[in-house]
Amino acid sequence: MSVDVVILAAGQGSRMKSKLPKVLHKVGGKAMVQHVIDTASSLQGVNTHVVIGHGADKLREELQGQALNFALQAEQKGTGHAVAQAMPEVAEDSVVLVLYGDVPLTQAATMQEMVDIAATGDLALLTVNLKDPTGYGRIVRNSEDKVVAIVEHKDATPEQHLINEVNTGILAVKSQYLADWLPQLSSENAQGEYYLTDIIAMAANGGVKISAIQPEAEEEVQGVNNRVQLAELERWYQLQRAEWLMVNGATLADPARVDVRGNVSIGQDLLIDVNVVLEGDVVLGNDVVIESNCYLKNCTVAAGTRIKANTVIEDAVIAESCDIGPFARLRPGTQLAAKAKVGNFVETKKAIVGEGSKINHLSYVGDAVLGKDVNIGAGTITCNYDGVNKSLTEIGDNAFIGSNTALVAPVKVGAMATVGAGSTIAKPVSDDALAITRAKQTELKNWPRPKKKGN
Ligand code: UD1
Ligand code: CA
Repeated sequence: MSVDVVILAAGQGSRMKSKLPKVLHKVGGKAMVQHVIDTASSLQGVNTHVVIGHGADKLREELQGQALNFALQAEQKGTGHAVAQAMPEVAEDSVVLVLYGDVPLTQAATMQEMVDIAATGDLALLTVNLKDPTGYGRIVRNSEDKVVAIVEHKDATPEQHLINEVNTGILAVKSQYLADWLPQLSSENAQGEYYLTDIIAMAANGGVKISAIQPEAEEEVQGVNNRVQLAELERWYQLQRAEWLMVNGATLADPARVDVRGNVSIGQDLLIDVNVVLEGDVVLGNDVVIESNCYLKNCTVAAGTRIKANTVIEDAVIAESCDIGPFARLRPGTQLAAKAKVGNFVETKKAIVGEGSKINHLSYVGDAVLGKDVNIGAGTITCNYDGVNKSLTEIGDNAFIGSNTALVAPVKVGAMATVGAGSTIAKPVSDDALAITRAKQTELKNWPRPKKKGN
């Protein structure tokens, strides 16, 4: 049976105090609504509909290029009205799963269970027991403990306010039932809205069994209305990511001080110190060590490499047993071969660094190809930009570049060549040669230092 997922995302979210539509605020580096879309799309045979209203253009733009049907709800007349906007595109014989763009962390297993129940013809309802149920729709059960209705907080009697079992909003039911029930909704209630929740009583009266299930963790059904709740969910999400890292072989100095914003895959016996952020697609091999305060985005780090404190790496590929940092910045296009060293206050960009080569201190190496066992002295700069174009610097195997050298690209330094400290190299250097452009040192004997004028 096909599944039509309907994600409600038309509300304004005014309590976020934001120009960004609420559902585009991020958890773990990903928009909340995108979490919902991604998790739902892991189910079999899913068509996804997103009901948009406030910030509709921004949502369309942000979610473009994905297989989604957008249903515009121009005016927010309630959750029942919102689902109705998607119905024209919903299949006649499918299961409809209603989800919320601001409830980002519902698990796939929970969604699947709901869908499976609905496929049998029951109405699957996700409920949760809360110590403080204020504000939520209450689950009303009859004397046989069967769910017979949901009553919204604002419409509830004092006795009903005492009910702790609440509606999460998430439900699943066959589309043919919805097509029957939604047109029967009325807005005669405390909020003047078309409540989706009123279909529960219709189901009960129509002899459709209501199966209420509970999520494994409360956070799965937690919605975000303000930035405090956003931060709470972020912390919970990050703890799940940290646990995943530990279960799969990483030792974390503090599971509360590592943040994952993307897809990480790891080997075994990694060590990750505090305040490390892993973003985008990050692949970390066996025995990798990441010291404190490092930021790694879209990179691969092979086995045994050590990334020392305060290093920033983006769009780079690093081979095994490299030694990086502290305070290094590897920018996009950096590739380090095995056992390369990039030390403190070194910036690299589009730099291909050969095996065992060292750039240990205070250098800029951009648009460069370095052979094996090259030694770049402190303060070396590749002058790769003439104000208009970027040019390449090539350095052969075993070359030695003395400190404070300017390599004016395009330029080539041969294998085993040596460049004297303080040189400005703008012409090719032959293999095995010494190149030096330093002015000759002169000396004035017994030179009298200037003295202060006046008294
Ligand atoms: C709803 C439920 C309530 C449940 C609670 C859980 C109804 C009538 N009530 O109440 O039983 O306990 O969620 O959080 O369903 N939305 C639209 N279009 C609309 C109205 C809402 O897209 O016209 C979206 C909102 O953006 C939001 C979600 O639906 O993401 C829920 O709407 P909201 O008004 O917050 O529902 P509650 O009053 O909290
Ligand atoms: Ca409301």
